[in-house]
Amino acid sequence: MKTEKKSLSIDDLVLYIKSKTGLDLSKYRPATLKRRVSHRRFTLGHRDVHDYIHYLYEHPSELRYLTDIITIHVTEFFRDSDVFGYFSERLLPALVERKRNNAGIHLRVWSAGCSTGEEAYSIAILIDKFLKGNAINAKVFGTDISEEACNTAKEGEYSREELKNVPENILGKYFSESENGYKIKPYIKGKVSFSVHDLFSAPPFSGIDIVVCRNVMIHFKQSYREEVMANFHSVLNDSGLLILGKSEAVSGACLNKFKLLDPSIKVYQKIVSDSNGGLK
Ligand SMILES: C[S@@+](CC[C@H](N)C(=O)[O-])C[C@H]1O[C@@H](n2cnc3c(N)ncnc32)[C@H](O)[C@@H]1O
Repeated sequence: MKTEKKSLSIDDLVLYIKSKTGLDLSKYRPATLKRRVSHRRFTLGHRDVHDYIHYLYEHPSELRYLTDIITIHVTEFFRDSDVFGYFSERLLPALVERKRNNAGIHLRVWSAGCSTGEEAYSIAILIDKFLKGNAINAKVFGTDISEEACNTAKEGEYSREELKNVPENILGKYFSESENGYKIKPYIKGKVSFSVHDLFSAPPFSGIDIVVCRNVMIHFKQSYREEVMANFHSVLNDSGLLILGKSEAVSGACLNKFKLLDPSIKVYQKIVSDSNGGLK
Protein backbone atom coordinates (compact mmCIF):
# COMPACT_ATOMS: atom_id res chain seq x y z
CA MET A 1 0.00 0.00 0.00
CA LYS A 2 1.26 3.45 -0.89
CA THR A 3 1.57 5.73 2.17
CA GLU A 4 1.33 9.47 1.61
CA LYS A 5 4.13 11.53 3.17
CA LYS A 6 2.70 14.08 5.63
CA SER A 7 3.09 17.62 4.43
CA LEU A 8 4.64 19.82 7.16
CA SER A 9 2.56 22.79 8.31
CA ILE A 10 3.00 26.00 10.29
CA ASP A 11 2.22 24.00 13.48
CA ASP A 12 5.18 21.74 12.73
CA LEU A 13 7.30 24.85 12.26
CA VAL A 14 6.19 26.15 15.66
CA LEU A 15 7.08 22.81 17.31
CA TYR A 16 10.45 22.70 15.55
CA ILE A 17 11.36 26.24 16.66
CA LYS A 18 10.34 25.43 20.23
CA SER A 19 12.45 22.27 20.29
CA LYS A 20 15.49 24.09 18.92
CA THR A 21 15.30 27.48 20.67
CA GLY A 22 12.76 27.23 23.52
CA LEU A 23 10.75 30.06 21.91
CA ASP A 24 7.07 29.04 22.06
CA LEU A 25 5.41 30.73 19.10
CA SER A 26 2.09 29.02 19.84
CA LYS A 27 1.60 31.86 22.38
CA TYR A 28 1.90 34.53 19.67
CA ARG A 29 -0.89 35.78 17.39
CA PRO A 30 -1.12 33.37 14.46
CA ALA A 31 -1.81 36.07 11.85
CA THR A 32 1.53 37.85 12.41
CA LEU A 33 3.36 34.55 12.49
CA LYS A 34 1.82 33.33 9.21
CA ARG A 35 2.43 36.68 7.51
CA ARG A 36 6.08 36.80 8.44
CA VAL A 37 6.76 33.17 7.57
CA SER A 38 5.02 33.61 4.19
CA HIS A 39 7.03 36.73 3.44
CA ARG A 40 10.28 34.97 4.28
CA ARG A 41 9.50 31.85 2.26
CA PHE A 42 8.48 33.92 -0.79
CA THR A 43 11.73 35.87 -0.51
CA LEU A 44 13.68 32.60 -0.50
CA GLY A 45 11.52 31.13 -3.28
CA HIS A 46 10.02 28.18 -1.40
CA ARG A 47 6.77 26.76 -2.76
CA ASP A 48 5.18 26.06 0.63
CA VAL A 49 5.84 25.84 4.38
CA HIS A 50 6.86 22.19 3.97
CA ASP A 51 9.77 23.12 1.69
CA TYR A 52 10.72 26.02 3.90
CA ILE A 53 10.89 23.76 6.99
CA HIS A 54 13.25 21.45 5.12
CA TYR A 55 15.39 24.47 4.26
CA LEU A 56 15.42 25.33 7.98
CA TYR A 57 16.61 21.81 8.85
CA GLU A 58 19.55 22.27 6.51
CA HIS A 59 20.39 25.89 7.37
CA PRO A 60 20.60 26.35 11.16
CA SER A 61 21.48 30.05 10.78
CA GLU A 62 18.04 30.60 9.22
CA LEU A 63 16.49 29.69 12.56
CA ARG A 64 17.93 32.76 14.27
CA TYR A 65 16.98 34.96 11.33
CA LEU A 66 13.41 33.71 11.38
CA THR A 67 12.94 34.06 15.15
CA ASP A 68 14.33 37.60 14.94
CA ILE A 69 11.88 38.69 12.26
CA ILE A 70 8.99 37.09 14.11
CA THR A 71 9.78 38.60 17.51
CA ILE A 72 10.46 42.05 15.91
CA HIS A 73 13.18 44.18 17.49
CA VAL A 74 12.19 47.60 16.15
CA THR A 75 12.91 50.25 18.78
CA GLU A 76 14.46 53.68 19.20
CA PHE A 77 15.62 56.13 21.85
CA PHE A 78 12.72 58.12 23.39
CA ARG A 79 10.25 56.28 21.14
CA ASP A 80 6.92 58.17 21.48
CA SER A 81 8.32 61.39 22.94
CA ASP A 82 5.01 62.22 24.72
CA VAL A 83 5.35 59.04 26.78
CA PHE A 84 8.83 60.01 27.90
CA GLY A 85 7.66 63.59 28.55
CA TYR A 86 4.87 62.25 30.78
CA PHE A 87 7.35 59.92 32.44
CA SER A 88 9.76 62.69 33.46
CA GLU A 89 7.25 65.47 34.13
CA ARG A 90 4.42 63.58 35.84
CA LEU A 91 5.37 60.08 36.91
CA LEU A 92 8.88 60.57 38.23
CA PRO A 93 8.15 63.58 40.47
CA ALA A 94 5.17 61.78 42.07
CA LEU A 95 7.08 58.55 42.53
CA VAL A 96 10.16 60.22 43.99
CA GLU A 97 8.07 62.24 46.40
CA ARG A 98 6.33 59.07 47.57
CA LYS A 99 9.72 57.41 48.02
CA ARG A 100 10.98 60.32 50.10
CA ASN A 101 7.85 60.30 52.28
CA ASN A 102 8.39 56.60 52.95
CA ALA A 103 12.15 57.01 53.46
CA GLY A 104 12.70 54.83 50.37
CA ILE A 105 16.13 54.99 48.75
CA HIS A 106 15.76 52.59 45.82
CA LEU A 107 13.93 53.17 42.55
CA ARG A 108 13.64 50.06 40.41
CA VAL A 109 12.39 50.01 36.82
CA TRP A 110 11.97 46.94 34.59
CA SER A 111 12.08 47.48 30.82
CA ALA A 112 10.55 44.15 29.73
CA GLY A 113 11.15 43.31 26.06
CA CYS A 114 13.83 45.99 25.83
CA SER A 115 15.21 44.86 22.47
CA THR A 116 18.64 46.44 21.85
CA GLY A 117 18.57 48.67 24.94
CA GLU A 118 17.38 52.06 23.68
CA GLU A 119 14.26 52.08 25.90
CA ALA A 120 16.16 51.11 29.08
CA TYR A 121 18.90 53.71 28.48
CA SER A 122 16.30 56.41 27.68
CA ILE A 123 14.62 55.71 31.04
CA ALA A 124 17.93 55.67 32.95
CA ILE A 125 18.94 59.00 31.40
CA LEU A 126 15.65 60.69 32.34
CA ILE A 127 15.83 59.36 35.90
CA ASP A 128 19.41 60.55 36.23
CA LYS A 129 18.50 64.01 34.93
CA PHE A 130 15.61 64.21 37.35
CA LEU A 131 17.40 62.92 40.44
CA LYS A 132 20.51 65.09 39.83
CA GLY A 133 22.65 63.10 42.22
CA ASN A 134 20.22 63.05 45.17
CA ALA A 135 20.13 60.18 47.64
CA ILE A 136 17.78 57.89 45.71
CA ASN A 137 19.52 55.00 44.07
CA ALA A 138 18.00 54.07 40.69
CA LYS A 139 18.40 50.87 38.73
CA VAL A 140 16.89 49.93 35.35
CA PHE A 141 16.65 46.23 34.46
CA GLY A 142 16.35 45.50 30.74
CA THR A 143 15.30 42.02 29.66
CA ASP A 144 14.56 40.45 26.29
CA ILE A 145 14.07 36.96 24.93
CA SER A 146 16.72 37.61 22.28
CA GLU A 147 20.29 36.97 23.39
CA GLU A 148 21.62 38.90 20.41
CA ALA A 149 19.50 41.95 21.25
CA CYS A 150 20.71 41.81 24.87
CA ASN A 151 24.33 41.61 23.73
CA THR A 152 23.85 44.73 21.59
CA ALA A 153 22.23 46.45 24.57
CA LYS A 154 25.14 45.51 26.82
CA GLU A 155 27.59 46.95 24.26
CA GLY A 156 25.70 50.24 24.45
CA GLU A 157 27.10 51.50 21.15
CA TYR A 158 24.79 53.15 18.59
CA SER A 159 25.13 54.83 15.20
CA ARG A 160 24.35 58.51 14.67
CA GLU A 161 21.14 57.44 12.86
CA GLU A 162 20.05 55.31 15.84
CA LEU A 163 20.57 58.35 18.07
CA LYS A 164 18.56 60.73 15.90
CA ASN A 165 15.92 61.31 18.62
CA VAL A 166 18.49 62.09 21.29
CA PRO A 167 18.81 65.82 22.00
CA GLU A 168 22.33 67.26 21.65
CA ASN A 169 22.64 68.10 25.35
CA ILE A 170 21.83 64.49 26.31
CA LEU A 171 24.16 63.15 23.64
CA GLY A 172 27.01 65.30 24.98
CA LYS A 173 26.39 64.40 28.60
CA TYR A 174 25.65 60.67 28.42
CA PHE A 175 27.49 59.42 25.30
CA SER A 176 31.06 59.58 24.04
CA GLU A 177 32.12 59.35 20.40
CA SER A 178 33.39 55.93 19.34
CA GLU A 179 34.65 54.25 16.20
CA ASN A 180 31.16 53.25 15.01
CA GLY A 181 29.09 56.08 16.44
CA TYR A 182 28.53 56.80 20.11
CA LYS A 183 28.91 54.74 23.27
CA ILE A 184 26.83 55.21 26.37
CA LYS A 185 29.13 56.47 29.15
CA PRO A 186 30.09 53.95 31.88
CA TYR A 187 28.50 56.16 34.54
CA ILE A 188 24.99 55.71 33.12
CA LYS A 189 25.66 52.19 31.84
CA GLY A 190 26.31 51.20 35.46
CA LYS A 191 22.70 52.05 36.29
CA VAL A 192 21.30 49.63 33.70
CA SER A 193 21.66 45.86 33.48
CA PHE A 194 20.53 43.52 30.71
CA SER A 195 19.62 39.85 30.81
CA VAL A 196 17.87 37.27 28.67
CA HIS A 197 14.39 36.48 29.94
CA ASP A 198 11.25 35.00 28.41
CA LEU A 199 8.13 36.80 29.64
CA PHE A 200 6.34 33.43 29.76
CA SER A 201 8.66 32.25 32.52
CA ALA A 202 8.71 33.30 36.19
CA PRO A 203 9.55 36.98 36.68
CA PRO A 204 13.22 37.48 37.60
CA PHE A 205 12.66 40.52 39.87
CA SER A 206 10.55 41.78 42.75
CA GLY A 207 10.07 45.16 44.41
CA ILE A 208 9.70 46.95 41.07
CA ASP A 209 8.35 50.53 40.98
CA ILE A 210 7.67 50.75 37.24
CA VAL A 211 7.31 48.05 34.62
CA VAL A 212 7.70 49.38 31.08
CA CYS A 213 6.54 46.79 28.54
CA ARG A 214 5.82 48.50 25.25
CA ASN A 215 5.09 47.01 21.85
CA VAL A 216 5.76 43.47 23.07
CA MET A 217 2.46 41.96 24.24
CA ILE A 218 0.66 43.15 21.13
CA HIS A 219 2.16 40.07 19.45
CA PHE A 220 0.83 37.64 22.09
CA LYS A 221 -2.52 35.83 22.15
CA GLN A 222 -5.00 37.39 24.61
CA SER A 223 -4.81 34.70 27.33
CA TYR A 224 -1.00 34.87 27.37
CA ARG A 225 -1.06 38.67 27.64
CA GLU A 226 -3.13 38.24 30.77
CA GLU A 227 -0.63 35.74 32.17
CA VAL A 228 2.23 38.19 31.61
CA MET A 229 0.27 41.16 33.04
CA ALA A 230 -0.54 39.11 36.17
CA ASN A 231 3.21 38.51 36.58
CA PHE A 232 3.84 42.25 36.30
CA HIS A 233 1.22 42.84 39.00
CA SER A 234 3.01 40.38 41.29
CA VAL A 235 6.43 42.07 40.98
CA LEU A 236 5.20 45.66 41.37
CA ASN A 237 5.35 47.47 44.71
CA ASP A 238 2.00 48.78 46.01
CA SER A 239 0.92 51.67 43.72
CA GLY A 240 3.57 50.60 41.23
CA LEU A 241 3.12 51.59 37.59
CA LEU A 242 2.77 49.67 34.35
CA ILE A 243 3.45 51.44 31.05
CA LEU A 244 2.26 49.70 27.88
CA GLY A 245 2.66 50.56 24.20
CA LYS A 246 0.18 52.99 22.65
CA SER A 247 -1.83 50.28 20.92
CA GLU A 248 -1.84 47.96 23.93
CA ALA A 249 -4.20 47.81 26.91
CA VAL A 250 -4.82 45.94 30.12
CA SER A 251 -7.76 43.62 29.49
CA GLY A 252 -9.72 40.55 30.57
CA ALA A 253 -9.04 39.17 34.03
CA CYS A 254 -6.41 41.88 34.62
CA LEU A 255 -8.90 44.76 34.47
CA ASN A 256 -9.36 44.59 38.25
CA LYS A 257 -5.61 44.49 38.85
CA PHE A 258 -4.69 47.84 37.27
CA LYS A 259 -6.24 51.31 37.19
CA LEU A 260 -5.78 53.37 34.02
CA LEU A 261 -4.09 56.69 34.89
CA ASP A 262 -3.77 58.10 31.40
CA PRO A 263 -5.53 56.66 28.35
CA SER A 264 -3.27 58.21 25.69
CA ILE A 265 -0.01 57.30 27.42
CA LYS A 266 -1.28 53.87 28.56
CA VAL A 267 -0.05 54.22 32.12
CA TYR A 268 -1.65 51.98 34.71
CA GLN A 269 -1.34 51.80 38.47
CA LYS A 270 -1.38 48.57 40.41
CA ILE A 271 -4.53 47.93 42.42
CA VAL A 272 -3.94 46.09 45.66
CA SER A 273 -6.61 43.95 47.35
CA ASP A 274 -7.09 44.54 51.06
CA SER A 275 -7.28 41.65 53.53
CA ASN A 276 -11.06 41.34 52.96
CA GLY A 277 -10.61 40.88 49.22
CA GLY A 278 -11.74 44.48 48.54
CA LEU A 279 -9.75 46.88 46.41
CA LYS A 280 -7.77 49.84 47.69
C1 LIG B 1 9.16 45.77 19.05
S1 LIG B 1 10.36 45.40 20.28
C2 LIG B 1 9.94 46.58 21.52
C3 LIG B 1 11.15 47.25 22.10
C4 LIG B 1 10.81 48.38 23.09
N1 LIG B 1 10.03 47.90 24.18
C5 LIG B 1 10.11 49.51 22.37
O1 LIG B 1 8.90 49.66 22.47
O2 LIG B 1 10.79 50.28 21.69
C6 LIG B 1 9.71 43.87 20.94
C7 LIG B 1 10.73 43.07 21.74
O3 LIG B 1 10.04 42.08 22.49
C8 LIG B 1 10.86 40.94 22.58
N2 LIG B 1 10.06 39.76 22.91
C9 LIG B 1 9.20 39.10 22.10
N3 LIG B 1 8.70 38.04 22.75
C10 LIG B 1 9.24 38.05 24.00
C11 LIG B 1 9.12 37.22 25.14
N4 LIG B 1 8.33 36.14 25.12
N5 LIG B 1 9.83 37.52 26.24
C12 LIG B 1 10.63 38.60 26.27
N6 LIG B 1 10.81 39.43 25.23
C13 LIG B 1 10.11 39.16 24.10
C14 LIG B 1 11.49 40.86 21.18
O4 LIG B 1 12.66 40.08 21.19
C15 LIG B 1 11.72 42.33 20.85
O5 LIG B 1 13.04 42.73 21.13
